Amino acid sequence: MNALFPDGFRWGAATAAYQIEGAAAEDGRTPSIWDTFSRTSGTVRNGDTGDIAADHYHRVREDVALMKELGLTDYRFSLSWSRVQPTGRGPVNQKGLDFYRGLADELLDAGIRPVATLYHWDLPQELEDAGGWPERETAERFAEYAGLAAEALGDRIATWTTLNEPWCTAFLGYGSGVHAPGRTDDAAALRAAHHLNLGHGLAARALRAAVPASAELSLTLNLHSIRPVSSSPEDADAARRIDAVANRIFLDPVFHGRLPADLVEDTTGITDWAFVRDGDLEVISTPIDSLGINYYTPTVVGAGVSESPSPYPGAPDRVRFEPAPGSRTAMDWPVDADGLHELLVRLRDELPGVPLMITENGAAYDDYADPEGAVHDPERVAYLDAHLGAAHRALADGVDLRGYFLWSLLDNFEWAYGYGKRFGIVHVDFASQRRTPKDSARWYAEVIRRGGLAR
Ligand code: FCB
Repeated sequence: MNALFPDGFRWGAATAAYQIEGAAAEDGRTPSIWDTFSRTSGTVRNGDTGDIAADHYHRVREDVALMKELGLTDYRFSLSWSRVQPTGRGPVNQKGLDFYRGLADELLDAGIRPVATLYHWDLPQELEDAGGWPERETAERFAEYAGLAAEALGDRIATWTTLNEPWCTAFLGYGSGVHAPGRTDDAAALRAAHHLNLGHGLAARALRAAVPASAELSLTLNLHSIRPVSSSPEDADAARRIDAVANRIFLDPVFHGRLPADLVEDTTGITDWAFVRDGDLEVISTPIDSLGINYYTPTVVGAGVSESPSPYPGAPDRVRFEPAPGSRTAMDWPVDADGLHELLVRLRDELPGVPLMITENGAAYDDYADPEGAVHDPERVAYLDAHLGAAHRALADGVDLRGYFLWSLLDNFEWAYGYGKRFGIVHVDFASQRRTPKDSARWYAEVIRRGGLAR
């Protein structure tokens, strides 16, 4: 019997502005922290930048036609803040907005719902120069930008996502420094996490005031599916610490209007949290319509010591990380679909009444076009099949899961890994910009047509 998904289930694919658009200096766009970071030597493999990327800025028609051919019901993309509002302050850039209007119109013409993320890591450089996310003002600027985007595009966007993976912004950007802006300061990273939460809440209010009642508001988190290596109290405590600084640091303020007490305790040597002002948690817990989850691989932890600088403030001298068993993707990430099921079931119990979307899931493999021009990617098909299978089991277990967005539509600029890691179901030859659907694209189209998995 096939594993079919409910009627109305959203079948999508996801991308992000800096990873695919290119046109970095066109039509009024100003640099973001990723333009600066990728130009700093030693930060991105091979010295790659997003200057051209998959040249999506000039290929919207062709790319939306591909989506239509695949049968996508939804497309998740992000807006480049410095294209819409150069330098992060002041008036909108009409040409930048026109690009997103045009994209949304193409999607709507093709019968595909536009799902827009306001922030997928590309802070305007001027705002970083003024202090970046550790400063409260960045949250206020973000809300202003959200309001401008909502006014201009509100009639076209079905779902608005405020932030993509604020954990990465805060802790990879300001903690371990492997992402832009490349700072290594635990106190700044924790401040950033709070101001990202605040920015989310303020933006949710600005959006709600400007968009039609039918538009949905959401937030996407890369929640960690955490497993302790044993049931010993020491290993359980390691898991609790990571849960606090990776998951509950966002879930508790956003859905319960509180800061996790154990997180505050774990980080006393780093900050006193005095930057959290009266009323902030109320703003942060402004109701939203769904939660987006990005899942790739589980996090296995035990008591011990991990590398420094670490993206987990308050944990490096208490927690060690171990790879999960099993096969690995080209990112060296273990393949473990049960982690997705565990996460969804946990959220069913912790956040009753909050609809869930898987806003990213997928895998990088070393794909290449063979002499006939075909791209065979059986490992990706197996990965996707297993994870959609886990999502299907979660639905059977009563999880209110509304949709699945595969990462990614196109091969693209994979942040610090540059173009070396290919996540697309559509192969991109970056020299010619030729798009070739991989076997996984055909497979996904068939899943969508069938409404689920062949079993
Ligand atoms: C996520 C990011 C996305 C992509 C995937 C592989 O953390 O949101 O942009 O890079 O990982």
